[in-house]
Amino acid sequence: MDQYAVFGNPISHSKSPAIHTMFAKQTQQAMEYGVIEAPLDGFEKAVGEFIHRGGQGANVTLPFKQQAFALADQLSEAARLAEAVNTLSFNKGRIYGDNTDGKGLVADLKLQGVTLTDARILLLGAGGAARGVIAPLLSELPASIHVANRTEQRAVELAVQNPSSKLVASGLDNIEGEFDLVINASSASLAGSVPSIRGPLVADAVCYDMVYAATVTPFNLWARQQGASRTIDGLGMLVCQAAESFAIWRGVRPDVNPVMQFLRAQMT
Ligand code: ATR
Repeated sequence: MDQYAVFGNPISHSKSPAIHTMFAKQTQQAMEYGVIEAPLDGFEKAVGEFIHRGGQGANVTLPFKQQAFALADQLSEAARLAEAVNTLSFNKGRIYGDNTDGKGLVADLKLQGVTLTDARILLLGAGGAARGVIAPLLSELPASIHVANRTEQRAVELAVQNPSSKLVASGLDNIEGEFDLVINASSASLAGSVPSIRGPLVADAVCYDMVYAATVTPFNLWARQQGASRTIDGLGMLVCQAAESFAIWRGVRPDVNPVMQFLRAQMT
C-alpha cells in the first residue's frame, strides 16, 4: 500500500493522519498515512529512511519546513515564495517540494464565504506563516494587503520580496486605514497573547486566526470584544491545506466539509 507520513517534532498531537485517512476512505485511495517524529538534528536522515521504505510523499510541519525547502530537488512557485515546504513528493529518486498553506487559507476563506476580491486585508505577522500566504492572497485580487509586524523591518522585507503596488508594510503601532479582513499570522496566540494593535482596526472586520483551538482563540476573543463582525479559526485552513497536499499526491480532490465537521465535533 502507498505510504505517506507527516514529519514534525513534536508530532504526536497531529491531526494530519486522521484527516488523510478520512480523505483516503472518501476517495477510495489505497494508502496509509503515519507520523514520524524526526530528531531535531535528523530530519534529512529520517526522510531518506522513509523514502527507502517506499514512502511516496510526506507533509512537513514545525520545525522542519525550512529544512524541507533546502532538501527538495525541485520546488513549486508557492514553495519558492514561502521559502518553506509543507508537502514533499518522492518520485524516482527526486524530491519535489510544495507549499499548500497559502492555498489552504484561501480555500478556507472562500468556503466560509469571505470575499477576497477588492477586500482591504490586514495581515499580522511577518514570519513563515505570513510569508506563505501573501502570493495566494494577492492572486485573489484584493484591494490591498497591509502587512504589519511587531518588528517593522521584517514586514518591510516581506513587502520587498513580493513586489506589488497593493502591498503596504508597517510596524504594529502605525497601521492606518480600515479593513474588511484581518488575518492573524503571528505566533502570539501560541503563547496566549495577542498582537498589540488598536481595537478599532478590527471593528466590523472578519477576523481570521491561523491557529485553532477547542475554545475561541485569544486573538479571536479579543477581536470579538472589539466588535469584529465575525471570527474564524484556522481549523479549516488545516483541513484545506491537507486537501491540497492530497490532490498533489493522488490527483483527486477530497471533500473537506465532512472532515472539518468531524474534527470540530471531536474538539468540543
Ligand atoms: P511562524 O513560522 O509561525 O510565522 P516565526 O517565523 O517565528 O513563526 O514568526 C513569528 C511571527 O509572530 C513574527 O511575525 C513575530 O513577530 P517578530 O517578527 O516581531 O518576532 C510574531 N509574534 C510572535 N509573538 C508575538 C507577539 N506577542 N505579538 C506580536 N507578534 C508576535
